[in-house]
Amino acid sequence: MTTKVILTRKIPKVAFDILKKQAGVKIISWDNEEPIERKTFLEYANKNPDCAGILCMLTDKIDEELLSKLNKNKLKVVSTMSVGHDHIDKQACKKYGIKVGYTPGVLTNSTSDLAVTLLLAAARRLKESSDAAINGEWTTWKPEWLLGKEVYGSTVGIIGLGRIGSAFAKRMHHGFDCKILYSDVSEKDFAKDFNGKFVDLDTLLAESDFVVPHCDLNSKTKEMCNLEFFKKMRKDAIFINTTRGDVVKQDDLLTALQNNIISYAGIDVTVPEPLPTNHPLLKQKNCIVLPHIASSTRKCRNDMATLAVNNLLLGIQGKNLLKEVGLD
Ligand code: DGY
Repeated sequence: MTTKVILTRKIPKVAFDILKKQAGVKIISWDNEEPIERKTFLEYANKNPDCAGILCMLTDKIDEELLSKLNKNKLKVVSTMSVGHDHIDKQACKKYGIKVGYTPGVLTNSTSDLAVTLLLAAARRLKESSDAAINGEWTTWKPEWLLGKEVYGSTVGIIGLGRIGSAFAKRMHHGFDCKILYSDVSEKDFAKDFNGKFVDLDTLLAESDFVVPHCDLNSKTKEMCNLEFFKKMRKDAIFINTTRGDVVKQDDLLTALQNNIISYAGIDVTVPEPLPTNHPLLKQKNCIVLPHIASSTRKCRNDMATLAVNNLLLGIQGKNLLKEVGLD
């Protein structure tokens, strides 16, 4: 008897090989670098109602419409190759007894490294500086040209102190002697590793040179960073986001940047993704936009894919997953 699984993207070979070698597993695969179209995904589900597992990406919506095409008694697991799981309707999965696997931990280092990179790039105006070198604006060394913000010894405010927030805080504290403020705790114990000070959000916004959300996207954090939020930040402060675009009310971020309510932003996540190439944020001098690359190191993507495959395989066997989203 074969067990069917749907795979919604081409994944790193090291992980695909584990799946391929599993006896009795039939892989229905969208073998492409680009996301599966919704229509095609629904067709895959329609044609394979007996599938036992889905390995998906953060770009694939797993909702009632999709689950309704499948035999919920057969479908045991949805395993996402991401730490974020806001694209999955957890209530629906809970209702049908479907386990949800995700990939926390393995992307903590690469994601926090990228947050530091983005912070430094924004503070030191790397995009403008590189453009100036390319465009011939670099006439000579000038005492007051392209002046940025000093990072060493600055105050960094982190909203959401989980695994990634803490890894980021450690880098900023031990590497740059930054004072760390945090609010919205998930793991308060972590704070002793970097002498972090817990403060309310308003204090964090008022005192930080750099404001950096590291929280999940959920109903409480959706569009949390709005105009009111930006107005509470210092005028010379910089906003960095590597979490989810929806944590930010993007039009308000644009307004804040256009009107110098804050000085600069560095963002790795947007709404939508990709951001249309004519989007005004891409034209803002005081904004660096990256194409959601926080976890994109070879090691990290191999580890994410391997963990997602192992979660999938455990799930279809009815076993506990290595990393399972709590559905309470
Ligand atoms: C995730 O895993 O949720 C990240 O956004 C991927 O980079």
